[in-house]
Amino acid sequence: MKVFVTGASGFVGQEIVQQLHAAGHSLRLFARHPESKSVQRNVFHFGAEIHQGDVLDTSTLPAGLKNIDAVIHLVGIISEVGRNTFEQVHTHGTQNMVVAAQQAGVKRFIHMSALGTRPNAISRYHRSKWAAEEFVRASGLDYTIFRPSIIYGLQDHFVNLFARMTRFSPVLPVIGRGQSKLQPVPVADVAKCFVKALTEPTSIGQTYDLAGRDVLTFEQVLDEILQVTNRKRWKLHLPLPVARLQATLLEFIFPKLLGKAPPLNRDQLIMLGEDNVGNPEPANKLFDLKPISFREGIASYLTRN
Ligand SMILES: NC(=O)c1ccc[n+]([C@@H]2O[C@H](COP(=O)([O-])OP(=O)(O)OC[C@H]3O[C@@H](n4cnc5c(N)ncnc54)[C@H](OP(=O)(O)O)[C@@H]3O)[C@@H](O)[C@H]2O)c1
Repeated sequence: MKVFVTGASGFVGQEIVQQLHAAGHSLRLFARHPESKSVQRNVFHFGAEIHQGDVLDTSTLPAGLKNIDAVIHLVGIISEVGRNTFEQVHTHGTQNMVVAAQQAGVKRFIHMSALGTRPNAISRYHRSKWAAEEFVRASGLDYTIFRPSIIYGLQDHFVNLFARMTRFSPVLPVIGRGQSKLQPVPVADVAKCFVKALTEPTSIGQTYDLAGRDVLTFEQVLDEILQVTNRKRWKLHLPLPVARLQATLLEFIFPKLLGKAPPLNRDQLIMLGEDNVGNPEPANKLFDLKPISFREGIASYLTRN
């Protein structure tokens, strides 16, 4: 198949591109910055074609979808900068992709959502992802939607952040009580589902949770990281009001003064305060996943030199 992938330069996108290539698919990748290292790596290693554009700019989409058999739509953000708000990128960006696929006659559409997405979610991240799902469901396309819990792997933004902190900091921050539950899932399994779904007709019209074997509290996730890196650190519980104040300041300073996404925002605090667990069984069965423990999963890259 010839597959059009958005968000291919990101953490999850790079693993999906690699697995698509290994499965014999040819690739056209949608990128805002074709010159970036991660995009050029895909050209070099996988012979990918690049189509430059932005999901917020509808004029950049149609030409990219010529002679395409399927779209894998991964674009997403965890922090807002300028016009790249959750509503714009998740909801309108997805609507733009859906309309472009409809107009180009591309029927198969595999969509990246997130666990916790629901109509009355408190976080804007989850609400904007829900609205995006609604466009996909109403599109008439042959869609499949995936909702992963937190995703981990060599280039992840979460486990690596805390693993890096353990190198130089005597303490690790825990927001609030740190008792909300997560079900981290390996990026290789997430990618396997996206790739297999392309040739799995029973996945059409379905929504799947993607979640790992272990249900862990936030604090247990930190304990696992400490265990695997063989380090002992204090865990500092930050009261929620303090964390919120810090996030508010970062949200102001980073985008407004530095033009960058803040390392922490209030929406993330809301999500970190909620359980993020699901039912992985339907996806595990259909896509033949063999779940491993979180400890085994993170050890495969945190213990590399
Ligand atoms: N990581 C997780 O734990 C997790 C969990 C659940 C769901 N998800 C979802 O999975 C998807 C991928 O996440 P990730 O961790 O791989 O994120 P990531 O590393 O930040 O990658 C995001 C990708 O989206 C692209 N992008 C952002 N805004 C864009 C725009 N306006 N137009 C075109 N491309 C744009 C980025 O391109 P540039 O290179 O140009 O910035 C990048 O390729 C997201 O939808 C996310 O919500 C992730």
